[in-house]
Amino acid sequence: MFAARQVFGAAQRRAFSASARANSKVTVLGAAGGIGQPLSLLLKLNPRVSELALYDIRLAPGVAADVGHINTKSTVKGYDPTNAGLRDALTGAEIVIIPAGVPRKPGMTRDDLFNTNASIVRDLAKAAAQYSPDANILVISNPVNSTVPITAEVFKSYGVYNPKRLFGVTTLDVVRASRFISQLKETDPANENITVVGGHSGATIVPLLSQSGYNLEGEKLDAYVHRVQFGGDEVVAAKDGAGSATLSMAMAGARFAESLLKAAQGQKNVIEPTFVDSPLFKDQGCDFFASNVELGPNGVEKIHPVGKITDYEQKLLDVAVGDLAKNIKKGVAWVKENP
Ligand code: NAD
Ligand code: LMR
Repeated sequence: MFAARQVFGAAQRRAFSASARANSKVTVLGAAGGIGQPLSLLLKLNPRVSELALYDIRLAPGVAADVGHINTKSTVKGYDPTNAGLRDALTGAEIVIIPAGVPRKPGMTRDDLFNTNASIVRDLAKAAAQYSPDANILVISNPVNSTVPITAEVFKSYGVYNPKRLFGVTTLDVVRASRFISQLKETDPANENITVVGGHSGATIVPLLSQSGYNLEGEKLDAYVHRVQFGGDEVVAAKDGAGSATLSMAMAGARFAESLLKAAQGQKNVIEPTFVDSPLFKDQGCDFFASNVELGPNGVEKIHPVGKITDYEQKLLDVAVGDLAKNIKKGVAWVKENP
C-alpha cells in the first residue's frame, strides 16, 4: 500500500498535501496566441491548477478542447469572445495571466507596441478589476514597463488596486541570464539563478552577475550583458517577422505561476524577480521596479533591495532607472487620457 510517510521526506510530504489540497482557477487572456497556447499546455500539466479558463478574441474554445484531452485532473474551458465570456473566464480566478497583444517584428522596439497593446491591456484590466479584483494579475504583454502601470491605474479607477497582487512577468530575463552564463561557464543551467533587476526592455534589464560570484571582465562582460538585455531581439530576428519569443516565454510564465501557487499553498522562501509596485526607486520616478520578491499567500510578501553591486552594475542601473521612469510615466499619462 502506498504510504506518503515512507516515500517522502517531511518537506515533500507538506508540498504533496498542499498540492493535493489545491483548488486554483487560472485564467489565460490571449490563450490562443504564440505564448498562450504553450502556456496553457504547461498549466494543464501543473497539478496545482484545478481549473483552467482560456479566453481569446479567437479560437479559445478550440485550444481548450485540445488541451482538455490531456490526462491530468484539471478542468479546461474555452470562452467565447463576448463580455459574458470574458466575465465567466475571470470570475473566481486566483491567477489571471495576460499575454494578449501583438508581438514585435524585426526593427521594432517593445515601445513600438505601445499604441496597440496599451488599449488591449487596459480593456482586459477593466474586466479583471470588475470580475476578478482579488486575483493575482500577471502581465506579459509588452511593453511591460508601461502595461503594468496601465493595469495599476485601471484597478485604482475601480477602487480595487492591491499592489501586492500585480506582477510584470520578467522571469524570461532571469531564464536567459541563467542559460547564457551556463553556456559561457559550462555549468548546469538548472543550478544558475542570476538576479536581474530593473524592467523588461533593452537597457532597463540589468543582470547582476557579481551577486552569483562571477566576474566576467571587459568585452566578455559587455557581450554577456548585451545578450541578456537584447535576448528578445535575437529571437525576433531569427523568427524573421513571424513574432517574438513564445516557447521560452511560456516556460517562464508557467514557472512564475507555479511559484505563486506554491507560495499561496504555504511554501516558504519562494523568491522570483518580478516587476512590482516597489519602494526601491520611487524617489527617482519609478513606482514600479523588478527585483527579487518573496511571494506568499497575499502575493508580494517582501521586496528585496538590489543589494551589493559593482560600479559597472551601478552604471547600468542608473541608465535603467532613467529609462524606466519615462516608460512608467508614459503608461500612466496615456491611461489617464484614455480611460
Ligand atoms: P500572438 O500574436 O501570437 O498572440 C497574442 C494573442 O492575443 C492572439 O491570440 C490574439 O488573438 C490575442 N488577443 C489580442 N487582443 C486580445 C484581446 N483584446 N483579448 C484577448 N486576446 C486578445 O503574440 P505572442 O507571441 O503570444 O505575444 C503576446 C505578447 O507577449 C506580445 O505583446 C509580446 O511582446 C509579449 N511578450 C512578452 C514577454 C515578456 O517577457 N514579458 C515575452 C515574449 C512576448
Ligand atoms: C522577449 O523578451 O522575448 C519579449 O519581451 C518579446 C520581445 O519583443 O522581445
